[in-house]
Amino acid sequence: MRDPSFPHRHLLGIEGLNSAEINYLLDLSERYVDLNRGAQKTSTILSGRTIVNLFFENSTRTRTSFELAAKRLGANVINMQVETSSVSKGETLIDTAVTLNAMHPDVLAVRHPDSGAVKLLADKVNCGVVNGGDGSHEHPTQALLDALTIRRRKGKLNGLLVAICGDVLHSRVARSNFLLLLTMGARVRIIAPRTLIPSNVDRMGVEVFTDMAAGLKDADIVMMLRVQNERMRGSFIPSIREYFHFFGLDHEKLKQAKPDALIMHPGPMNRGVEIDSDVADDVERSAIREQVEMGVAVRMAVLEVLAKNSMSHNADDTLGRTGT
Ligand code: CP
Repeated sequence: MRDPSFPHRHLLGIEGLNSAEINYLLDLSERYVDLNRGAQKTSTILSGRTIVNLFFENSTRTRTSFELAAKRLGANVINMQVETSSVSKGETLIDTAVTLNAMHPDVLAVRHPDSGAVKLLADKVNCGVVNGGDGSHEHPTQALLDALTIRRRKGKLNGLLVAICGDVLHSRVARSNFLLLLTMGARVRIIAPRTLIPSNVDRMGVEVFTDMAAGLKDADIVMMLRVQNERMRGSFIPSIREYFHFFGLDHEKLKQAKPDALIMHPGPMNRGVEIDSDVADDVERSAIREQVEMGVAVRMAVLEVLAKNSMSHNADDTLGRTGT
């Protein structure tokens, strides 16, 4: 039977999740924070299960934390080396997925540079799939780990004012965070140069600012985004120096936010571009390292639930009554 509190086979995005499902994953993650902080960090809950990491794009935090999460739950983990796999001989995404599926994994954790590619793959397999980031579309476990970090520091999500600043246009982190934070009752502002604001973003229910002082006013959370040069086709900012002057977070600009405002960044950071090192490393205000810690706990919760649901899907498949 699928987990009634999270009855989904895949986690492809925050879109489509309700507040009860998000809270369920966050509550489950809390238990893993405690486990990870103890001396004995392992559980046998996924003993005998297989998790495959399939990353078509570079990653430090997401890939490592999926591996660590799976190992701490007692699962077998395969890290597919895409560059030395048959993908380099021209094998398609779908053929790769179908090939891996034939080996009966329980969950695939997938990152891909193209928006929608992870959904395409999920449609071809009968195991669970978790999106580790697809193009500029979604990065659901990042939004969940950000929410867990905020909830632990502020005690709630509802009613908080969250300012998300920087390269919103190319950011899957921003999109997943808008969806999650708005679902949980937070107020969301974006602050960015006009060239880095998506055209339809105000229709999502976020407030749009092009001035840091105005946008940061009274914010509870200041979430900075990486300038994503790898996704930019053409020039979106005049120069790094000018970008930092107007949109880089330093202690002077931070004065506009609440005195206890939390500073966040999904990483990897471009120090001196979107964030000043003094702010990023401020032990009183910055939650950036805690975000990484929460990433392991969140991915443990997600793998536990998806592996459980995958087993139920395969049982249904045998009985001829599958659904997604
Ligand atoms: N935040 C994030 O996705 O980092 P990585 O690219 O290192 O996984």
